[in-house]
Amino acid sequence: MSDDKDQQNQDYELRSYGRRRGRKRSARQDAIFDDGLARWGLGPTETALPALEHLFAFKPSEVWLEIGFGGGEHLIWQAERNPDIGFIAAEPFEDGVVKVLTAIKEKHLQNIRVYPGDVRQLLRAMAPDSITRAFILFPDPWPKARHAKRRLVSPALLSALSRVLVQGAELRIATDISSYAAEILAAIHNDTSFIWEANRPGDWRNRPDDWPETRYEAKARGAERQPNFFSFRHLRIGKPETEV
Ligand SMILES: C[S@@+](CC[C@H](N)C(=O)[O-])C[C@H]1O[C@@H](n2cnc3c(N)ncnc32)[C@H](O)[C@@H]1O
Repeated sequence: MSDDKDQQNQDYELRSYGRRRGRKRSARQDAIFDDGLARWGLGPTETALPALEHLFAFKPSEVWLEIGFGGGEHLIWQAERNPDIGFIAAEPFEDGVVKVLTAIKEKHLQNIRVYPGDVRQLLRAMAPDSITRAFILFPDPWPKARHAKRRLVSPALLSALSRVLVQGAELRIATDISSYAAEILAAIHNDTSFIWEANRPGDWRNRPDDWPETRYEAKARGAERQPNFFSFRHLRIGKPETEV
C-alpha cells in the first residue's frame, strides 16, 4: 500500500465528532434513550446487519442514510414526507439521538432506525448495494489546521460509501467551510465511482426544495457564510465486497 493510502486509512480511524453528551440527562430522557433504542435502534455492528429493508415493519421502497443528523431537523422532515422510504440514521451525539427518538414516538414514525454511534462502524456492517440516497449535512468543520485530518468526508469515507450505495444513488453533502468544500470536490474528482453533475453555481448555491434548513445551515447564514449544497451521483464500478 502507498504511504499516502496508509496515511489516509490511519486518518479515517480518527474521531470525527466532538462531545457525545451535553447537559446531564433527566430520568425521562434516560428512559427515552434506553427504551427508544430498544425499539428503534440499530446494532450491534460487530457482525453483519440483516438486509436493511428487513429492519422495518413494512417493506420500504428504498432505504436512505443520514450521517450526523445533529438535532434531526432534516431527518424528521424527510421521514414525515416519505413514509414509504426507510431511513437509517447515525449520530454519536446522544442529545441528538434523544431528540430523534422523542420525535419518532410523538409523531408515530415507522420508518426510522437510529444508530447511536460512528457511521464508519455502521458502514462496515451494512450489506453492499443497499442505499439509494445518503446525506451528510454540515459535517464538523474541524477548522484548526492540526485537526483537519479528523474531517469525516475523505477518500476513505467515499470508498466505504461506494460499497453500500447502489448504482445511480445520490450523495448529498452540505458545507459552509470553503476549504472543506474544496477538499470534498477534490475527493469526488479523484474517486471514479462518483460524478458531480452540476453545471452552474445555482446548482450548488441554492438548496433544493426537497431539502429543509438544518440548525447548522442557520448558524452558517447567521455568520454570513454561504453554504454549498452538493449532489453527487454514484456509479457502481465492479462488484462490492461484503465487509464483516
Ligand atoms: C456540525 S454537526 C451538523 C448536524 C446536522 N447535520 C445539521 O446540519 O444541523 C455534525 C454532526 O455530525 C456528527 N458526526 C461527526 N462524526 C460522525 C460520525 N463518524 N458518524 C456519525 N455522525 C458523526 C456530529 O456528532 C454532529 O452532530
